[in-house]
Amino acid sequence: MKMRLWLRCISFVLLCCYGIQIGFAYKIPPVQLELKEEGFLVSIPHEDGITMAIYNIEINEQCPLLLDLITKPMNNRWTTKQVARKLQNNAKVKINLLIMHKEGIYSRTDSATLLNKNIILETIKEADKPMDPCIAAKPQLNADGVIKNSETKVFIDQKPSRRIFKPNELIFEELFKSPELPNWNRGNYLHSNAIGDRSEDFTAVRDDNSCMTVRGETLLITPVISKAGNKAFIELNNCKQPVCYENNNFTCAYVQQSKMPFAFPPPVNTSRIDTNGKFSFTYGRIEIYATLPYGDWLFPYMMLVPDNFNCTTRKQLRIAFATSVDIENNRIRGGPVILNGRPNNGKVYFVPTNHMATGMNFNANGYHNFTLVWTSTEIHMFADNKKYGCYINNDEYAEPYHIVLGVGAGGHFEFEDSRTKPWKNTLNGAFALFHRSFTGCCKNAIVKKECFQLKKKRTCSREWGSQAAMAVKYVRVYAV
Ligand SMILES: *[C@@H]1O[C@H](CO)[C@@H](O)[C@H](O)[C@H]1NC(C)=O
Ligand SMILES: *[C@@H]1O[C@H](CO)[C@@H](O)[C@H](O)[C@H]1NC(C)=O
Ligand SMILES: *[C@@H]1O[C@H](CO)[C@@H](O)[C@H](O)[C@H]1NC(C)=O
Ligand SMILES: *[C@@H]1O[C@H](CO)[C@@H](O)[C@H](O)[C@H]1NC(C)=O
Repeated sequence: MKMRLWLRCISFVLLCCYGIQIGFAYKIPPVQLELKEEGFLVSIPHEDGITMAIYNIEINEQCPLLLDLITKPMNNRWTTKQVARKLQNNAKVKINLLIMHKEGIYSRTDSATLLNKNIILETIKEADKPMDPCIAAKPQLNADGVIKNSETKVFIDQKPSRRIFKPNELIFEELFKSPELPNWNRGNYLHSNAIGDRSEDFTAVRDDNSCMTVRGETLLITPVISKAGNKAFIELNNCKQPVCYENNNFTCAYVQQSKMPFAFPPPVNTSRIDTNGKFSFTYGRIEIYATLPYGDWLFPYMMLVPDNFNCTTRKQLRIAFATSVDIENNRIRGGPVILNGRPNNGKVYFVPTNHMATGMNFNANGYHNFTLVWTSTEIHMFADNKKYGCYINNDEYAEPYHIVLGVGAGGHFEFEDSRTKPWKNTLNGAFALFHRSFTGCCKNAIVKKECFQLKKKRTCSREWGSQAAMAVKYVRVYAV
């Protein structure tokens, strides 16, 4: 496919296409300009890894600028054909070239002057490393002033909405004015970790008001350390089996079993809400004004999850994420998370396959505007209007996603093992070690310490304070 776009007087436009990556080996060679009948050609040789070329050409510093976007090489070259542009003697042609390469976006600018049928080439600027796509702007393809329609798709009650949106149009708003939460479902289940599976965090998700309230136009999700010890019997009424538990003999009840001495009830009670089946969308800008929960081994769920769960590959778009360790190190994270299921003796557990983007010097105190911008080509993350990350989107997330809000604790992949961490990732006894780090001789600890109970050493976690609650003032989704 080849697209030619004639732009009015606007400066060179850049296309944000490839993620920040390391190990750059490619460098754009000088362009070649050839005169051809009533026009000219500009080209560079093809090399493995190049997926797209964008030429911006300016003749004699005059508008219009010639913009050509090429998605396929021809005769092993990336060539733009300017067939009706005859260059006069002394013509000066400025050529800016952007190359989308699997290692990143490369750019170079050359100048070519036609002097008595000779072409004199001069390099103006050549980058020897790919540029940061976060600072590259989008192509302004609608320079003619026509506002293009949005690419956002909305699904209400599982049906695609027929409305066509304009960019920036508000498509979803939750201001938490009523405790009924008609736009949301409340989760109510025990994670199968209780029987030794390692797919999820260390919580029981409850739909009553013990961990969740809506007041003062604010949603509050407050995790609590469960009082239930391993001899407890727990049964959740009306509990729904979450998807992707088919290998795990899902249970709504916890009963101590002699053949599973490692089994332990979920050490933390929490709540989780989602818009699945009520409101979903593909592409948009989601803005959440919220505090991050803070307390040992806590983390927020503020994410988008596909309506159609894939039980071997879980995809999430995290709008904001920070574990207690991140918060202590002034980090904020966000972006796509892809978890792959690893069958393990008939059970499945998940391992992350990528890293989220990380923003530094972030002070978690108080409310923040966490924003994720998701288009068919890019994903950008902002905290308080500051962009801290972006990704290329190669159609990997082209399906309806719904919103999930909650507070998680522990788990087998959100915290790296460390000396002060009471459990080790993937350990069968993780639930029990986590619970013991908050109870018994560790109860009411205000520093991380060790203590002995029945001659057994415990690593303690600090008691959670009022900051353990996640408070959300609003969620807004706009078309892009
Ligand atoms: C936590 O949830 C369990 C069921 O999972 C329940 O038995 C217990 O009473 C709840 N609350 C506390 C504070 O432990
Ligand atoms: C699930 O239950 C079946 C039948 O009780 C049993 O054979 C199987 O081992 C169980 N699977 C797991 C993962 O516990
Ligand atoms: C789940 O995802 C994997 C990897 O992307 C894919 O190969 C598989 O077909 C998907 N399964 C379903 C049921 O969509
Ligand atoms: C929140 O941040 C996004 C991204 O910077 C910005 O577009 C939006 O206007 C901000 N919202 C408010 C209410 O400030």
